[in-house]
Amino acid sequence: MELPFAESWKIKMVEPIRKSTRAEREQWMKEAHYNVFQLKAEHVYIDCITDSGTGSMSDRQWAAMMMGDESYAGASSFFRLKDTITRLTGFEYVIPTHQGRAAENVLFSHMVKAGDVVPGNSHFDTTKGHIESRKAFALDCIIDEAKDTQLEHPFKGNVDPVKLEKALEQYGNKVPFIIVTITNNTAGGQPVSMQNLRDVRAIADRFGKFVIFDSARFAENAYFIKVREEGYADKTIKEIVKEMFSLADGMTMSAKKDGIVNMGGFIATRHESIYEGAKRFCIPFEGYLTYGGMNGRDMDALAVGLDENTEFDNLETRIKQVEYLAKRLDEYGIPYQRPAGGHAIFVDASKILTHVPKEQFPAQTLTVELYLEAGIRGCEIGYILADRDPVTRENRFGGLDLLRLAIPRRVYTNNHMDVIAVALKNVYDRRESITKGVRIVWETELMRHFTVQLEPVK
Ligand code: F0G
Repeated sequence: MELPFAESWKIKMVEPIRKSTRAEREQWMKEAHYNVFQLKAEHVYIDCITDSGTGSMSDRQWAAMMMGDESYAGASSFFRLKDTITRLTGFEYVIPTHQGRAAENVLFSHMVKAGDVVPGNSHFDTTKGHIESRKAFALDCIIDEAKDTQLEHPFKGNVDPVKLEKALEQYGNKVPFIIVTITNNTAGGQPVSMQNLRDVRAIADRFGKFVIFDSARFAENAYFIKVREEGYADKTIKEIVKEMFSLADGMTMSAKKDGIVNMGGFIATRHESIYEGAKRFCIPFEGYLTYGGMNGRDMDALAVGLDENTEFDNLETRIKQVEYLAKRLDEYGIPYQRPAGGHAIFVDASKILTHVPKEQFPAQTLTVELYLEAGIRGCEIGYILADRDPVTRENRFGGLDLLRLAIPRRVYTNNHMDVIAVALKNVYDRRESITKGVRIVWETELMRHFTVQLEPVK
């Protein structure tokens, strides 16, 4: 008999978590203005708000922290991190930053100016925020297949080469670079194929443009290439990673995801010109060039994390857990962005809360319902997160309206996945009775989802 699948690690340290009553949760949700970002974490039973900075470090990462060199300039921790990044990606120049959006801030301060257009595959919200705050435009060139949640496609994160070419023809010298997000978070943690990365490279070369990868989940992307794309089954994750980055000019990285650290990020590039330009903004925004907002010990933990998480077994354990949750949802007929993403399940709220009008934010309503049901915190990746159009100030209802259940790395067991699935089923079973959503009471201009205050529609 074939042995069943099990995790590629065992547990050495645990953190207690606590259940609550429905009455308590109703009170806490009200106090949080129906915005899960404003809940206290201790009031959450299973926390799926993000996979960012919430992973468990390994014993090796904790051990590496003891080797941290906290020198202001020239710390050996920096060189250990830089050498690891160069070995994995081929990029010679590395600028550490305190997290991914800081990498965007530093790099875009150099590369993006007012009136520019940055095409890509569904830019992440901070990426879009850093483009739009510079009065530039983020142009989404994702393949149309990504917008149909029920369609199975192995690489739903792909850039549409036709849309990209059109954008480059239309905006020409207004385009400073193309950004490819691997995996594509906003479209559902969906991977980009190596062939698509090659196509983007070829188009970029024809128009003389840089290609930057937003690389937060690059290792998960490499896993999907290995298991789904022809010709990669026998390659190691590290070989695939090297090939992926050979098709880019540089990267921004939120190390809080595939670096499996709680805080950290970096920029890396093969071009001295990009490095020299970005460097000028690192020092005032982040710190000196050999720490850029990170402790020495954190750079050491990251170097080890990057190495560990570019090994197949670790990635397989992680992605199989997300797939396990997806299978449970399939049993109950709950619709989500198919196939399951690398880091999360994106539940299609518009197909569940069909009686809640889009102006009352169905995915946010579902997020609130799931918390009230069982203390499980997901987050809305939908109409609230989409912000208003910077020109018309209208809500943007053009995209998907999803409840994201992000799974932290090496944190929960499949028993927790079972609780999530059943809690969601209970909400799903009473979906017809949910006819009213939420309305905005207060919001800010950019990235409003973090601080928005809502109230239930009566
Ligand atoms: N790019 C992508 C694709 C991301 O998913 C994130 C963060 C960032 C950039 C910014 O990185 O948080 O380190 O500043 N995503 C988190 C999430 C917050 O929950 O998906 P950061």
